Amino acid sequence: MLKLLPKIRRPIRCYAAVLAPRSDSFAKIMQTDLMAFENFLGKEGVKKDDISNHTTDWTGQFKGHGSVVLYPKNTEEVSAILAYCMKNKIAVVPQGGNTGLVGGSIPVHDEVVLSMNKINKLFSFDDTMGILQCDAGFILEELDNKLSKLGYMMPFDLGAKGSCQIGGNIATCAGGIRLIRYGSLHAHLLGLTVVLPDEQGSVVHLGSKIRKDNTSLHTPHLFLGSEGQLGVITNVTMTAVPRPKSVQSAMLGVESFKKCCEVLKLAKSRLSEVLSSFEFLDEAIMECLKTNLNLHPVLNASSIPFSILVETSGSNEDHDMEKMSAFLDECLSKKLIVDGVLAGSSADATKMWQLRESAPLAVTRDGYVYKHDVSLPLEHYYELTNVMKERCGDLAKRVVTYGHLGDGNTHLNITSSKQNEDLEKLMYPFLYEWVVAHGGSISAEHGIGQLKLPYSNLGKESEERLLTKKLKKIFDPNGILNPYKMI
Ligand code: FAD
Ligand code: MLT
Ligand code: ZN
Repeated sequence: MLKLLPKIRRPIRCYAAVLAPRSDSFAKIMQTDLMAFENFLGKEGVKKDDISNHTTDWTGQFKGHGSVVLYPKNTEEVSAILAYCMKNKIAVVPQGGNTGLVGGSIPVHDEVVLSMNKINKLFSFDDTMGILQCDAGFILEELDNKLSKLGYMMPFDLGAKGSCQIGGNIATCAGGIRLIRYGSLHAHLLGLTVVLPDEQGSVVHLGSKIRKDNTSLHTPHLFLGSEGQLGVITNVTMTAVPRPKSVQSAMLGVESFKKCCEVLKLAKSRLSEVLSSFEFLDEAIMECLKTNLNLHPVLNASSIPFSILVETSGSNEDHDMEKMSAFLDECLSKKLIVDGVLAGSSADATKMWQLRESAPLAVTRDGYVYKHDVSLPLEHYYELTNVMKERCGDLAKRVVTYGHLGDGNTHLNITSSKQNEDLEKLMYPFLYEWVVAHGGSISAEHGIGQLKLPYSNLGKESEERLLTKKLKKIFDPNGILNPYKMI
């Protein structure tokens, strides 16, 4: 009966377990498998009890049924596990910090969780060329702290930095709050060590340890956004960027979305090389932050429809401050903003950034949250929020928007006191079809995982989908890596 479900109706909130029943081609874990794993990893590397932190996602919406978590300590141990799982047809979910927001790092049925938590020893940094080489299980913030002592920083930053891992960041092609300045991870990735799910658990070194190398296809880049489908990343080589000596943050209040876009245009022109963030929060998320986390706006005016957080980073405080002040004056004199505060201290800046970075937590505290992560041409960016507000009406508790406006990436979040099928029927597939019809992407940064699986064909030509499936088959002939998801 279950097998027929996807054919007889379009599932509403389709997580992979609904769409894809357990595949009989995968073996069930037996005692002999556990013994083999213990043989590779030692008893301490195999965990069967108290594993809910590995089988539940950050939002609490995805709960898998995996019954064992493996903790390899190095590439060789990953290789032994994948070779064994390939030969014995055991399905495996690679897992980094488990902060992903589409259910990609959670087992759907009884897949083994392959945690990267202990692969975090190797670290080296060339502080002349700015090239970092490190194990994939390093937490992003730890890497950034290490680089800080050497005058550098990671070229991307996100609210989950205290838990997410560099391997997970590569596997999701994480975006975050500095993409407007430093570009996507494609601009920084140089090389990867990857273990393939083949008979030998082949260890392959892709790309280079140097900045320029055009001698082959740029294979490491296939792993950016691969969501654990192609192989397990165990080591990463990438560029870091010089740590700015001067950072300025300002919060601006804006009356209309059209003016937000004009402020963006002006920021690019006037702040140009020092502009490092351009983040967006609407009034509804500000209200949600106040109600659920007791966080209050930094702007004084009683009602501000839109707030923008602008950051500059540079090497000369006087120069950067002069640019920021002139930019703010121009915003005011052109009546683009109704209010504005320039952070006078790092405590002020922290307060501003706390608002933006706490937005994901504020919406999860609101009840049940329907998260979206789409990119759109700017003329449709906030139109989506208005369309969905109208469509959902009273069924939604809140319709809030925050996001990386400078990158055209909106995080429209719709909350409800509890999961609501009527609301889901109104939202899906309408929302994703609307995004594609208006020239956008249904996933700007979080990926497909389980959450967007039913919609993953939207906006992609069938030839591209076919090519992706062929690539998957080459890397993972038995399909044991992260089944029931993205590909
Ligand atoms: P996981 O969640 O563990 O895994 C994510 C996917 O990668 C899974 O499919 C998994 O199988 C695969 N994977 C993980 N490690 C490996 C590996 N070593 N080899 C192969 N595959 C692997 N994302 C953004 O892009 N921008 C943001 O601004 C942002 N902000 C966030 C804020 C909060 C508060 C939270 C909770 C999440 C946010 N995210 C954001 C989402 C998430 O943090 C990122 O997707 C992050 O890159 C995931 O890293 P992770 O180590 O937690 O990966
Ligand atoms: C963010 O930008 O805050 C993240 O991508 C997380 C989210 O969308 O909630
Ligand atoms: Zn984001």
